[in-house]
Amino acid sequence: MKHKKKEKLPYHKYELYEASVQDPKDEMEFVNRVYQEVFQKDATHLREDFCATFRNSCHWVKRGPKHRAVAVDLCEKTINYGKKHTDFLTKDEIQRIRTYVSNVMTVKTPSVDVISVSNFSIGYIKKRNNLVKYFKNNLTHLRNDGIMIFDLLGGQEISEPVKEKRTFSMPDGTRVQYIWDHEEFNPINRNASYSIHYKLKGKPAFERVFEYHWRMWSIPEVVDCLIEAGFDDVKVYWEEDDEDGEGNGYFSQSENVEDCPIWIAYVVGVKK
Ligand SMILES: C[S@@+](CC[C@H](N)C(=O)[O-])C[C@H]1O[C@@H](n2cnc3c(N)ncnc32)[C@H](O)[C@@H]1O
Repeated sequence: MKHKKKEKLPYHKYELYEASVQDPKDEMEFVNRVYQEVFQKDATHLREDFCATFRNSCHWVKRGPKHRAVAVDLCEKTINYGKKHTDFLTKDEIQRIRTYVSNVMTVKTPSVDVISVSNFSIGYIKKRNNLVKYFKNNLTHLRNDGIMIFDLLGGQEISEPVKEKRTFSMPDGTRVQYIWDHEEFNPINRNASYSIHYKLKGKPAFERVFEYHWRMWSIPEVVDCLIEAGFDDVKVYWEEDDEDGEGNGYFSQSENVEDCPIWIAYVVGVKK
């Protein structure tokens, strides 16, 4: 029996990811705002953990001539893709980024002002003792006046079989549908599986272009682990609402907030 040939993705998967998920310029603007709010000065040295194609590092070094970044990921192939896509950087900017193909749990890097983790990657660490170990290791790589910042996804919807759909444009103008799929959630250990599918007009959906298997940590769990690891303080940034009660994309330091079905928050460990 003849099998139909699987259709090839018309873009590289990281091109789709960059256009549909990432906003590294704004993300780095936000990271610097948080640092400024904590220490009333700018940060210059960043470490990006779970960096994949290290877009955050690229946008960090664009912020100024003193800015440097180290980017860490286990996957050499992904880092190499990132290295091949740096045309928007000057030679000097490229030289201010150092990449490490390494495990974030054990890597040794120069000390930095900020260690950042994006896209919920803290969930790759599934055991509490490993999370504390990771935070302790990070503390030794932070200068005094340093922060570690990461995002968390939460709310009751993260455990429900939801498919979130939206469309976005590729740089060439092609419209693509993005589907964020909540595939599994185990309430006993809070391990979850999510995936991203893409759908282009006139083509079958490209399923599970990205798959994620994470532990969905709660805010108080990670706050306790940061304190246990030795951070001096922990702050939580929560998204503000617009007039219709929807998130407006602006995150501010908060202590008492109203719950909502699905939310993103940033957790900030402070080393004085
Ligand atoms: C979701 S992607 C990160 C995407 C990127 N941070 C962003 O902003 O969109 C997760 C990355 O983490 C890497 N990774 C997973 N476990 C790791 C570990 N223990 N040490 C280093 N990298 C790891 C994977 O290779 C993958 O590239």
